[in-house]
Amino acid sequence: MEYFHKPVLLAEVLKYLNCTNGSTVIDCTLGGAGHAEAILDLITPKGFLLGIDLDIVALNAARVRLARFSQQSFSLVKGNFKDLDRILTDAGLYAVDGILFDLGVSSVQFDRAERGFSYRFDAPLDMRMDQGQKLTAADVVNTYAGEELVRIIRDYGEERWANRIAALIVRARRNRPIRTTFELVDIIKDAIPAAARRRGGHPAKRTFQAIRIEVNGEIEILEKSFRDAVKWLRPGGRLVIISYHSLEDRVAKIVINDLSKGCICPPGLPICKCGRRPELKIIVRGVVRPTPGEIADNPRAESARLRVAERL
Ligand SMILES: C[S@@+](CC[C@H](N)C(=O)[O-])C[C@H]1O[C@@H](n2cnc3c(N)ncnc32)[C@H](O)[C@@H]1O
Repeated sequence: MEYFHKPVLLAEVLKYLNCTNGSTVIDCTLGGAGHAEAILDLITPKGFLLGIDLDIVALNAARVRLARFSQQSFSLVKGNFKDLDRILTDAGLYAVDGILFDLGVSSVQFDRAERGFSYRFDAPLDMRMDQGQKLTAADVVNTYAGEELVRIIRDYGEERWANRIAALIVRARRNRPIRTTFELVDIIKDAIPAAARRRGGHPAKRTFQAIRIEVNGEIEILEKSFRDAVKWLRPGGRLVIISYHSLEDRVAKIVINDLSKGCICPPGLPICKCGRRPELKIIVRGVVRPTPGEIADNPRAESARLRVAERL
């Protein structure tokens, strides 16, 4: 089956990564290598790209897509970008020109029914990006305490009906385990009042997002990963982060704003005592969003927000 994921904000990624023939670039979320292929076109023959992904299906597809580049031009690693320090050290790198994060799941992960990410297909509740990982969506739904489910669905899904959904999950699983995506969709539909179900897209969208984030531990690794990434950039190197929901973007914003701050002494001190120097320069204030044309062409780009900063 073809692996098809349209890279989001591609022209903007290439522009802001600012890479040229000879650059070294890290793609922390390789996916089907849509961004990586276009980056390699710019940085080869002299440059080098290291691509990281948790998903072996994505890595295999990326390898096929990048087959036209020489083997010295790129290296693909199965791993988690939370281990960036170890991965880049093992690869023998010491400073790089660009680091890209294109967060979340790919279209292919969503669209392959058997991965269990989508409320549109009936499949076992899986949702693992790394298919070697033990924890699945079925484990979360069937073994987490009710209060934990409320917290996850409310915080990661920003779902106002989190209490009711968690209560119905707990009630349903008393009879027998909830095994499939459609069983979970039915429970969510029962939990959300009919009037509310007619607004805000598919009623299961927010709960599925929340459970997926929990299964893959997506949020808690971000802050450290972004901070580690900055340390690997050489002066003038660029960090580009594309996020797809406010929780991810909030972490990107906090880290970039924090590292671009200089002195934090209380106002009124005659000289700086803290000695803090900014590590990053913000290249674009706020976020870059896809154009209406890109969204019309690729509706999944709609929620994308890109932030970019440069190492000082
Ligand atoms: C939005 S897709 C990237 C698509 C890619 N930019 C392209 O153009 O094809 C996100 C990818 O990142 C991977 N991923 C998500 N979190 C990860 C993590 N913590 N470490 C490594 N890969 C991760 C997912 O498995 C998925 O393949």
